[in-house]
Amino acid sequence: MPGLLDDGRLEGLVRDATAAPSMHNAQPWEFRYHRAARTLELRADFTRSMPHADPDGRGLHIGCGAALLNLRAAACHAGLRPEVRLLPDAADPGLLAEVRFTEGEGADRALAALEPMIAERHTSRYPYAEVPLEAGVQETLVDVAAREGATLEFPTGWHLSHVLQLIQEAEADESYYGDVDEARWLRRGTAESDTAVDGITEPNLGVRKRGGRAPVRDFARGSSDTDRGSAVFEQVPHLALVSTADDGPHAWLRAGQATERALLAATEEGLVGSFATQPLERRDLRWLLRDPVGGAGPVHVVLRVGYGPRGPSSPRRPPGEVLTVLP
Ligand SMILES: Cc1cc2nc3c(=O)[nH]c(=O)nc-3n(C[C@H](O)[C@H](O)[C@H](O)COP(=O)(O)O)c2cc1C
Repeated sequence: MPGLLDDGRLEGLVRDATAAPSMHNAQPWEFRYHRAARTLELRADFTRSMPHADPDGRGLHIGCGAALLNLRAAACHAGLRPEVRLLPDAADPGLLAEVRFTEGEGADRALAALEPMIAERHTSRYPYAEVPLEAGVQETLVDVAAREGATLEFPTGWHLSHVLQLIQEAEADESYYGDVDEARWLRRGTAESDTAVDGITEPNLGVRKRGGRAPVRDFARGSSDTDRGSAVFEQVPHLALVSTADDGPHAWLRAGQATERALLAATEEGLVGSFATQPLERRDLRWLLRDPVGGAGPVHVVLRVGYGPRGPSSPRRPPGEVLTVLP
């Protein structure tokens, strides 16, 4: 099958992969296609890691896991069957996954159906409607995360209050959650803000929060601008926690795939979403997020979902910058 993936098709897959969410939009990935073996490597780009906010590389793996999920969805949508090996070489921790493409029966149709949502999903840092989620939505998100080997739960009652409190605590402690990293990736008021291919740009900041309990990260907090506008956010947000039974790079890659699959499914259901991972960036708070009664394992992602304005798209590096094709 020599013509299985010509340059155009390959670029299309990588474009979909790179539309994935990543911490501060750092896009910490690169791809290597081995043409003869019809194998695409997903590799970590450690120069784009967050030494302060993500010293263990958990967030980096989650973003790359999300890119892998998009790649799989795109391949299935193109009629290919992606066979994935996670972390195939213990001596090479930067090699996060190896994806071999074949043709024929067996593509995951449910996953293929989510591909059109890849271009629609954007982080929305706006207030969402204070209304319940439509019937069946929570079950759908729980189900798609489970298919990726992760647990997704919607905390309620005391657990929701507890999670909101932990997020607030993390937000209040500026020294802890890596403003140095945020500053590195904020593309605002700089010459490159209009032409940026990564990072958080002006339109991605959303509105300032002046009330409500829903968490939203304000990448421009502390600045005195007023032109962004301000708004009251939800009092009782719909938060979802993504956890796995175990911890470590393998679990983080699974959590990333589960998170992106849930976000794509949410998009299909007419929802928007954002992340609130500040407490995960502090070791002491991270462990407290889990539900001790439910017995879930470590939490890797805190999502907020709901009905609200779609977020704007954010910049991406073009495939040519992240893809190397080998014979
Ligand atoms: C592991 C991880 C953690 C994130 N944490 C936050 C966060 O705490 N607050 C936030 O507003 N966005 C967070 N994001 C979202 C990214 O900032 C966002 O994906 C990126 O800017 C690209 O924008 P997009 O999602 O609209 O494509 C996180 C994303 C990932 C993958």
